[in-house]
Amino acid sequence: GGAPPKQAKKVDYVTVEDYGSSIFGRLQSLFKKAIEDAFPGLDVPLLLAETPNPQFGDYQCNSAMPIAAKLKANKINKRPGDVAKEIQAKLPTKIDFVEKIDVMPAGFINIFLNTDYLRRQISLLASEGVKLPKLTRKRVLVDFSSPNIAKEMHVGHLRSTIIGDSICRLFEAVGFDVLRVNHIGDWGTQFGMLIAHLYDRFPDFLKKLPDISDLQAFYKESKKRFDEDEQFKKRAYEYVVKLQSHDGDIVKAWNTICDVSKKYNQIVYNYLDIKIKDVGESFYQDKMIELVKWVKTNKPDMLREEDGRQIMFPTGCDIPLTVVKSDGGFTYDTSDLAALKYRMLEEKCDWNIYVVDSGQSLHLETVYAAGRDFGWYDESIQRVEHVAFGLVLGDDKKKFKTRSGETVRLLDLLSEGVKRATEKLIEKGRETAMSEEQLVAARDAVAFGCVKYADLSHTRTQDYVFSFDRMLEDRGNTAVYLLYAYTRIQSIFEKDEVKNVDLVKYIASTPTLPLDHPGEFKLAKQLLKLSDCVLLVLDSLMLHQMCDYVYQLATLFHDFYNECYVIENKEGGIKTICPYASSRFV
Ligand code: ARG
Repeated sequence: GGAPPKQAKKVDYVTVEDYGSSIFGRLQSLFKKAIEDAFPGLDVPLLLAETPNPQFGDYQCNSAMPIAAKLKANKINKRPGDVAKEIQAKLPTKIDFVEKIDVMPAGFINIFLNTDYLRRQISLLASEGVKLPKLTRKRVLVDFSSPNIAKEMHVGHLRSTIIGDSICRLFEAVGFDVLRVNHIGDWGTQFGMLIAHLYDRFPDFLKKLPDISDLQAFYKESKKRFDEDEQFKKRAYEYVVKLQSHDGDIVKAWNTICDVSKKYNQIVYNYLDIKIKDVGESFYQDKMIELVKWVKTNKPDMLREEDGRQIMFPTGCDIPLTVVKSDGGFTYDTSDLAALKYRMLEEKCDWNIYVVDSGQSLHLETVYAAGRDFGWYDESIQRVEHVAFGLVLGDDKKKFKTRSGETVRLLDLLSEGVKRATEKLIEKGRETAMSEEQLVAARDAVAFGCVKYADLSHTRTQDYVFSFDRMLEDRGNTAVYLLYAYTRIQSIFEKDEVKNVDLVKYIASTPTLPLDHPGEFKLAKQLLKLSDCVLLVLDSLMLHQMCDYVYQLATLFHDFYNECYVIENKEGGIKTICPYASSRFV
């Protein structure tokens, strides 16, 4: 019992040709094939990983041990060392990026990369730019941010916004067709009381957009009246009926409330540079009616009546979905069922990704299970997935609140970030070194970059402690540390000796890069792992893995910057650039 079943197996969406620049991806597919050739049908997961100690090469395959164990269970005795040799024998004799493969008697297979290959790849990277793996184009919908109208967007929605937008950017970077969808809570019976309250408080709302600065308070006021005033309650119900039958003025009132709410959210999106399209719950009004008809016609056995409600238990689920309430109305379950059907059958999405807090996992997994029962998608080729995230906590490790215990307004939070970033920049004396425009750009990059990066760099499934002090530190895995590396790089490009050189031409005219300083070589290797990282994160949708990659890259860059010269000081005071800054030039 308990949790509904999750999607059975991850979709194998990367074909061998797609790996392109990913060394790890290519190694994986070569080893998978060699193992399958040497030990057909054994079905042992591939164990391939980076080697922590360079003495044992760059990558290590440890599959020989579990294979030997499995063979033994089948009454075949083979030592892991011999198993490893048989795997090696099935690998191509020449792999362009591999220097050598050593088999250890204990069964470890050590893979050493070819340094000439790495040098050539770095030259290509410099002259042709970053090339990510070319993947079969998928149509991908990302449901993220998704606040509720008339309730303030809170830090949970901030997490969804930041994580969802980053996932979209990743998908866009590999050329997917991405639908960025804001599944706003803009429909339901609560709109009756909000509309009634709007009529009383802002009678001229049709003429000008009311200035409701505090929507939260507006919501609370109307709820209070709804609970205490029978007359008001009756009016609220009438408005709901009128709204559902598309009565002109009532629809206008509903629109007004939505507009006020969205105007506020848009400020947050502008600050954070978020693009997203509204396809809220109201979009599914008619589709929910059709959905119920569809189920009754096509899967009548799935519905069950209980106390006047229509409910269903999808396969493997203990908690039912309420498809129709006893008063004939619909629920959050109904709108998500209609949305899933629409996304898979009308929008024809290959992937449908929900970036929603972990608290809604049961709800979403139950909806997905229903979708599978209804045959709306094929989980062996499509990916419907809840990208869950934990709570935002305050410094006291309790749910994030203001000092007086109120929910934190996102605008206040972001303004605080801007204030703190300004103080930091002034503390470092930047206001004298920069123009006003540059200072504003730097301030925003620091403030919003920090808020985003702090969120992304934490394992998303865990709760995370929001702390401006921590995220504004210039050491450790923070946005400031990355921006610092970026600034150092930019400062090189601003030097006269570099500014006036056509770098692409310069690189083309340079013989293969020596990369003979260890600091330089390590940096080069990390640069070449970008594609590996992209493939990893496409699969896991765990963005902290990408942050770890960039953090490592920044660290190696800082080391390189300290150890190697980029601009050479020749005798006679003439400076020339050596973009590859090997120790030879120092
Ligand atoms: N509006 C919901 C909330 O604030 C989130 C919606 C998430 N998306 C979905 N398809 N259920 O909790």
